[in-house]
Amino acid sequence: MSIKAEEISALIKKQIESYQSEMKVSDVGTVIQIGDGIARAHGLDNVMAGELVEFSNGVMGMAQNLEENNVGIVILGPYKDIREGDEVRRTGRIMEVPVGDELIGRVVNSLGQPVDGLGPISTTKTRPIESNAPGVMDRKSVHEPLQTGIKAIDALVPIGRGQRELIIGDRQTGKTSVAIDTILNQKDQDMVCIYVAIGQKESTVRNAVETLRKHGALEYTIVVTASASQPAPMLFLAPYAGVTMGEEFMHNGKHVLVVYDDLSKQAAAYRELSLLLRRPPGREAFPGDVFYLHSRLLERAAKLSDAKGGGSITALPFVETQAGDISAYIPTNVISITDGQIFLQSDLFFSGVRPAINAGLSVSRVGGSAQIKAMKKVSGTLRLDLAAYRELEAFAQFGSDLDKATKAKLDRGARTVEVLKQDLNKPLKVEKQVMILYSLTKGHLDDIPVTDIRRFEDEFLSWLDRNHTELLDQIRTTKGLPEDEAMAAAINEFKKTFAKSE
Ligand SMILES: Nc1ncnc2c1ncn2[C@@H]1O[C@H](COP(=O)(O)OP(=O)(O)OP(=O)(O)O)[C@@H](O)[C@H]1O
Ligand SMILES: [Mg+2]
Repeated sequence: MSIKAEEISALIKKQIESYQSEMKVSDVGTVIQIGDGIARAHGLDNVMAGELVEFSNGVMGMAQNLEENNVGIVILGPYKDIREGDEVRRTGRIMEVPVGDELIGRVVNSLGQPVDGLGPISTTKTRPIESNAPGVMDRKSVHEPLQTGIKAIDALVPIGRGQRELIIGDRQTGKTSVAIDTILNQKDQDMVCIYVAIGQKESTVRNAVETLRKHGALEYTIVVTASASQPAPMLFLAPYAGVTMGEEFMHNGKHVLVVYDDLSKQAAAYRELSLLLRRPPGREAFPGDVFYLHSRLLERAAKLSDAKGGGSITALPFVETQAGDISAYIPTNVISITDGQIFLQSDLFFSGVRPAINAGLSVSRVGGSAQIKAMKKVSGTLRLDLAAYRELEAFAQFGSDLDKATKAKLDRGARTVEVLKQDLNKPLKVEKQVMILYSLTKGHLDDIPVTDIRRFEDEFLSWLDRNHTELLDQIRTTKGLPEDEAMAAAINEFKKTFAKSE
């Protein structure tokens, strides 16, 4: 029996043809229900979870619930024109965003489309927005500092490159300001910053962008915004879009800082979307997988091993609390996922302690390995000083007869609180932080009136710029502390010129 080549090829051709027609049927579905940004479609049998689908009017959607007879789709855009019976097509692609250098300096939405009116972004590369976090062997422990330029953070709760540090607090406690100041301080640090604004007012985002532009920080920053007026899916996607853009830089050996401002609003958007998709609600009406929502996002922050290029993504997620309750559902979830938290407290904020960091409740589980040597030395006793002060403060209000040791502790504490205060948009280089903290912890400020401390700091630091740059240079280059004599001599020299107000 001989085999004819024509027969075989005809057979294969027929197979291919019938195969394609079979695909066709499951690639196009029909909308059977529509409303509130959610569509249900029949007939998309082969659709993948998270796959992009296209409605007949060009609006995109994302397949979420894959059920026996239908698929739940979240609609990424205006849904008013979509009708029951409309066609919906598979694209075969998982949701992606554009990535690359071209995005730097731009303001984009959750899909990576520009919203700053500066024209199209001509990237050639894209990345899927859901991807696996680097595994154990691809990582290295966090050891390089990420200087926020905020004294209270760099001294008490230091953050390392590749770390995840939660910033948590009530509304209007200066959370966003911490993020913006941290971004401002990354100038010339070889960092790419990504600020993800979720569910904020357009005007607030606008102000943040203006602040960044004014200080020249937009040159190394991408702003991803899904404002409060956008549909819930856009808010849900924004953080993933942000970290995806960051991953492109991290895998190329660069250092990235991603700020998620804030994840409470993302969780609320996800709850809205899940309830509309009729997923069963659990605690606080959040769906069962709300923990996974945040853990899979934050796990993508990493410090890569040298073999993988040594890049990093540092994540600063924000969570808003209600009346300081850090034991609510979302706060406890995110606290357990991150490597520490910075707690901003409203009563501190209103009493003028700004940034309003509660040193007792704030921790960094990476800690000292993310500090330069000099900083480690000067900040060692700071936390204890502060804790002792807070304890004695309440107690000292009752009696005026205090022994010497108690009085000394109170005096030092009051000055510590003053030194840790910092104005908005004035991040301080680490060498300057070291100089003022050194003066404080070595007792050089004990004879300066508390009300003069902040003026002393300002004048001292600019005086150093003019007269003792060698001390600053030494700290910056060797990362160690100069000799005590040299430090004391400089401080005393300045003190002679300082005019106390009393
Ligand atoms: N260190 C600071 N010194 C002085 N003012 C500050 C400081 N930090 C923040 N503020 C002011 O406090 C106000 C609230 O700050 P911010 O918007 O950062 O808080 P938030 O917690 O992000 O608020 P929201 O809950 O509305 O997002 C702003 O007007 C800001 O200018
Ligand atoms: Mg804010």
